[in-house]
Amino acid sequence: MSIEYPMPNRPRPATLPGDRALTSNVGTSIGAMIRVDQAGELGAREIYSGQMVVLKDQPSAPLLAEMAAQEAAHLAKFDALVVERGVRPSILSPLWRAAGFGIGVGSALLGERAAMAVTVAVEEVIEQHYQEQLDALDEIEADEGIAELRACVAEFRADELAHRDLAQKEMALKKGAKEAPAYQILSCGIKAGTKLAIGLAKRF
Ligand SMILES: [Fe+2]
Ligand SMILES: [Fe+2]
Repeated sequence: MSIEYPMPNRPRPATLPGDRALTSNVGTSIGAMIRVDQAGELGAREIYSGQMVVLKDQPSAPLLAEMAAQEAAHLAKFDALVVERGVRPSILSPLWRAAGFGIGVGSALLGERAAMAVTVAVEEVIEQHYQEQLDALDEIEADEGIAELRACVAEFRADELAHRDLAQKEMALKKGAKEAPAYQILSCGIKAGTKLAIGLAKRF
């Protein structure tokens, strides 16, 4: 699914209370980027937190803890950018928190391999989302703030790719032939849900 950000020559999206601080089209599109990124990192942190609750004594626990810590650092950065740039956070934040934690616990209850399948699916979509943001940022005249955002997105994209690769490696170690179709369904569902969440969090 292609993710489009409103660019300067396109009509502005509907605004909500809290959007008033963003006075230009560029400001609005940067605000939408920071909003969706903050929401995504919140969801990601909650997924790993939920998985940790169930899998804390399993072999994959150290990996989950490491990824959860990185997602928390990503979230802290976007929390700071939200304050600095006067961005309205997603009004659906409670939903992202609950859905992330629920997906984390639910996937972990299915086993370590299902938990890793969720990581691979989510990180693939998030990596693509960050790449699309980088492409969009390249078309905006850079100021200091945009350069800072671009650097964050580039760094976090590399982290998400590393998460995907680590989870893929873990999955390969725990391979179970009979489970393959179930994981494909799980993966498709998680990817579709993540894309939907990205679309919603940009506006709401
Ligand atoms: Fe992240
Ligand atoms: Fe990640």
